Amino acid sequence: MHIAILGGTGPQGKGLGFRFALAGHDIAIGSRSADRAAATADELRPRIVDGGAVGSGANIDIIDDADLILLSVPYEGQVDLLRSLAEPLAGRLVISCVNPLGFDGKGPHALAVPEGSAAEQAAVALPDSTIVAAFHHLSAPSLLEDGPLHDESVLVCGDDAEAKQQIIDLAAVTALRGGVDAGPLRNAQQIEAMTAVLIGINKAYKARSGIAIAGL
Ligand SMILES: NC(=O)c1ccc[n+]([C@@H]2O[C@H](COP(=O)([O-])OP(=O)(O)OC[C@H]3O[C@@H](n4cnc5c(N)ncnc54)[C@H](OP(=O)(O)O)[C@@H]3O)[C@@H](O)[C@H]2O)c1
Repeated sequence: MHIAILGGTGPQGKGLGFRFALAGHDIAIGSRSADRAAATADELRPRIVDGGAVGSGANIDIIDDADLILLSVPYEGQVDLLRSLAEPLAGRLVISCVNPLGFDGKGPHALAVPEGSAAEQAAVALPDSTIVAAFHHLSAPSLLEDGPLHDESVLVCGDDAEAKQQIIDLAAVTALRGGVDAGPLRNAQQIEAMTAVLIGINKAYKARSGIAIAGL
């Protein structure tokens, strides 16, 4: 597949893009600045041997050729970006890994999102796109290291069964246990919020924790 990554200059977009490209998918790193996107693509390219192609461009310029679009920008910036891209994203499959989190004296916590979750907010901003939520619990440093996939699952939720299955299949190249059907898009609220708990665990145990679904 050809996967465009909006905000691909950040650690999460870069890490997921690295794993997609290692597995043979073509990726395009997107940014508000084509130069920043090119610098990130140049950084990744030498690390992808026998994998997919690594392209780059301004966010708006990488959408047309893509089979999938990964949204990997901070929650605070997503609505403005998505509204500006609503037309080119119409009819397209958009994956959200966005976690709406705040940090205070007690540590990380889930922010209240009027639409329910960041993914549902994306669905409202992009009424003509299909939104699937996934990859919220994978740690960017783990994705970016040269090593085997971590023993964890990827919870995938969405309202379009075919699109959701496509991302469940894709998740197999990002985590050892692959993707798990986590229900409709409204479940993104719980999935996104769980990230605050994992970050707290990481801090307490100096670890990179993840979710592994047992009993399947
Ligand atoms: N980091 C993790 O381990 C991790 C794990 C799971 C999920 N996530 C989620 O994945 C998303 C990306 O995480 P990240 O750590 O890579 O984030 P980040 O570094 O803060 O942001 C990613 C990229 O988004 C772009 N960006 C920043 N502010 C923007 C705005 N207002 N409008 C449009 N674009 C903006 C920037 O690219 P340009 O300046 O080049 O445009 C930036 O490099 C977040 O929603 C996060 O919650 C992160």
